Amino acid sequence: MSIKRVSLISIVCLVVLLAIGVGFARNYVTHVNPKENGFTLQECNFVKQPFPLQSKLSHVLLVGGTSGIGLALAQQLVKNGVRVTAVGRSEPNLTSTLARFVKADLSSMKEARRLGKLFRDDDFDVLFFTIGTTVMRYETTSEGIEKDLAVSYLNRHVLLFSLLNNGLGSKTQSTKNRPRIFLVGAPGFFAAPEIEDINWEKGYEGININPHMNAHVFNEAIVHYISFKYPNVSAFGLSPGLVASGGATGAFTSNPVLQQYIAYVMDSLFQPIDHYAAQVLLPLLVTPELSSGQLFNSKGNEIKPNPWLAENLELRSAQLVDLNDQVLKRHKLDE
Ligand SMILES: NC(=O)c1ccc[n+]([C@@H]2O[C@H](COP(=O)([O-])OP(=O)(O)OC[C@H]3O[C@@H](n4cnc5c(N)ncnc54)[C@H](OP(=O)(O)O)[C@@H]3O)[C@@H](O)[C@H]2O)c1
Repeated sequence: MSIKRVSLISIVCLVVLLAIGVGFARNYVTHVNPKENGFTLQECNFVKQPFPLQSKLSHVLLVGGTSGIGLALAQQLVKNGVRVTAVGRSEPNLTSTLARFVKADLSSMKEARRLGKLFRDDDFDVLFFTIGTTVMRYETTSEGIEKDLAVSYLNRHVLLFSLLNNGLGSKTQSTKNRPRIFLVGAPGFFAAPEIEDINWEKGYEGININPHMNAHVFNEAIVHYISFKYPNVSAFGLSPGLVASGGATGAFTSNPVLQQYIAYVMDSLFQPIDHYAAQVLLPLLVTPELSSGQLFNSKGNEIKPNPWLAENLELRSAQLVDLNDQVLKRHKLDE
């Protein structure tokens, strides 16, 4: 047997052992003391349960509510009697009279603006954004926007400012009931953004992760920007870490036994998506102690701002918001 083959087998064995180990550890922590409801609640700063969802939430907008994290959250919400509006390209498997589906391809800024008008009179308690992509090879939309920028950030920018500048949250009397905005993929981590040409108009060759990292920083910037400029709403950033839905197992094999095994390994290594939705997201949606501008990790613990932004949070956030406004203007997508 070649050394390459032996190394490959060793790596596979190690990953499998690790998955089994993590699986057992998680089962132990989760089930040993069910009263504490698993590892997440022990580590969460903000989670308080039980919480009467229905009395705190009546309508939640899920931009990207048709699969993945958005759909998992939508399912939890309707189960708790909360109305949801789910936006995406394909109709979700969500059979409930509480659920409304709005079809839109949000790689288009015109579509984002259309939604801004459509949702103008909706009284959302929470606006939850999950749409995102990781493109890495140079590609533009039909509107001339680099695809990662368009899908992972700019449509949120257009839709949010359309709603905010139309008075989102201005009818709310008490600070407790201010609409909450959550942006998944918002923490900018440690990346300093590349701000010379944020729409990559000179193009690039090969694989480039920087447009995606920029989108993370822009998402974090808009969270801070809203927290400084729009006191009638609260905005938060979320880093889901790695979550597993089990739905992707079909991509690896059509064998049902292997699919079950892969789902087990994925669930062991990653946080199950329903767990993230029910144990981390639902409580964050309604926990009163949050203050606008905070960022949370996969367990609902607060994380620090991106260091580049943190050098002057207000100024640098505004600078990035402005750069994105300029891109929209240049492409005549600003109205
Ligand atoms: N899952 C993870 O482990 C993980 C980890 C870190 C960060 N994230 C980030 O978290 C976000 C959500 O992840 P996820 O796992 O829930 O992703 P997902 O399963 O791919 O779901 C993404 C949602 O966005 C919608 N969407 C995608 N492109 C769209 C477009 N052009 N127009 C309209 N809707 C669009 C999808 O609906 P349609 O297909 O119906 O259009 C779907 O509802 C992403 O931004 C991802 O990068 C995820």
